[in-house]
Amino acid sequence: MTSPRTFSSILVTGGAGFIGSNFIRWLFAQPGFIGKIVNYDALTYAGNPYSLDDVAQSVGDRYVFVKGDICDVAKVAETIERHAIDCIIHFAAESHVDRSIVRPDDFVRTNIHGTYVLLQAAREHAGQVRHFHHISTDEVFGTLGATGFFTEDTPYAPNSPYSASKASSDHLVRAYHETYGLPTTLSNCSNNYGPYQFPEKLVPLMILNALEGKPLPIYGDGQNIRDWLYVTDHCSAIWTLVTRAPHGSTYNVGGRNELTNLTVVGEICDLVDRMAPPLPSGAPRRSLMTFVKDRPGHDRRYAIDCTRIEHDLGWRPAETWQTGAAATVRWYLDHPDWVAQVRSGEYQNWIATHYSA
Ligand code: NAD
Ligand code: TYD
Repeated sequence: MTSPRTFSSILVTGGAGFIGSNFIRWLFAQPGFIGKIVNYDALTYAGNPYSLDDVAQSVGDRYVFVKGDICDVAKVAETIERHAIDCIIHFAAESHVDRSIVRPDDFVRTNIHGTYVLLQAAREHAGQVRHFHHISTDEVFGTLGATGFFTEDTPYAPNSPYSASKASSDHLVRAYHETYGLPTTLSNCSNNYGPYQFPEKLVPLMILNALEGKPLPIYGDGQNIRDWLYVTDHCSAIWTLVTRAPHGSTYNVGGRNELTNLTVVGEICDLVDRMAPPLPSGAPRRSLMTFVKDRPGHDRRYAIDCTRIEHDLGWRPAETWQTGAAATVRWYLDHPDWVAQVRSGEYQNWIATHYSA
């Protein structure tokens, strides 16, 4: 096996979001990592640099935050040059399917055009930027029936504006490798859950609503299936690919944790019942589940075959749904300040005092 690639100055786009912030936290905790990370993020509603405040304090000038839009050609180039970036790990995106249905334009702009700007910047700094990793989703493959799995060879068939924009960005990454020889890798991952996830996605929304005794909205019949992966397992997969996967390769990443939405929400209710004070009514939190109108174009089932990354690179997830779900519920119960901030917009004040544009 050839030696893993090493980098001294990594540009992480979208590092103030859910997975990006977990990735930065995770990478700084790896004993072998001695480099610097530049977190480049526009701080949309989903971006919260407060999530990394403790990391920023502990690693000093090995962590730099730059408030910037990935569509801003000049700022991207200036950041790559100023910080001698030798690797780009690209998380920044509009990421919520429901929002993409209501307002697709931000998704086209950031996910497609923004990815193009970064690829082009990497190309223009060839020699300095030695690697580009693109974070994508299993949703590009569309929907499965009751059987079968998405492999790396499954044809793309995106069904939502979100997944279509991610599919388009994946094709650009592929094209920049094939046409210009850009040293890329790409991963398509299943649904993530864990700490610091904005409470519009299923898992944190249900934890917080269950805690507060609010209705738990289940779209359609609740039988849609997702393959859940704890976020730090995604982080370890990304770093495995960045350092060891062949250029031009794509890998699927998943947790082999296929669950219906009803199962996910029911088990979250049970965990909150066990870990938090009971509801004033004394009713179990499962009673809060409320069936609501289905999402248009709602994909029925996602399931990832991640044999390639397991076989080629020896990656394995460390968490099961049981361990990861308990840790996630615990984290949300233990971090009411973070929750209050992201819900109230208070962190926007924090941004204004810490980071002027
Ligand atoms: P998120 O919405 O929590 O965070 C996205 C981050 O990108 C935010 O910090 C936001 O401020 C930033 N951003 C948005 N537009 C930007 C722009 N124009 N310029 C610079 N920064 C911008 O998303 P997430 O859940 O952390 O997802 C990260 C990546 O992982 C995305 O590319 C997503 O498609 C992919 N992904 C997510 C999941 C999942 O389950 N969440 C699964 C597979 C893949
Ligand atoms: P979500 O967390 O939005 O992720 P994605 O759409 O990218 O898979 O939703 C996960 C599943 O949960 C999906 O099948 C839609 C469903 N869902 C609900 O039933 N109720 C909700 O309030 C939300 C946000 C999602």
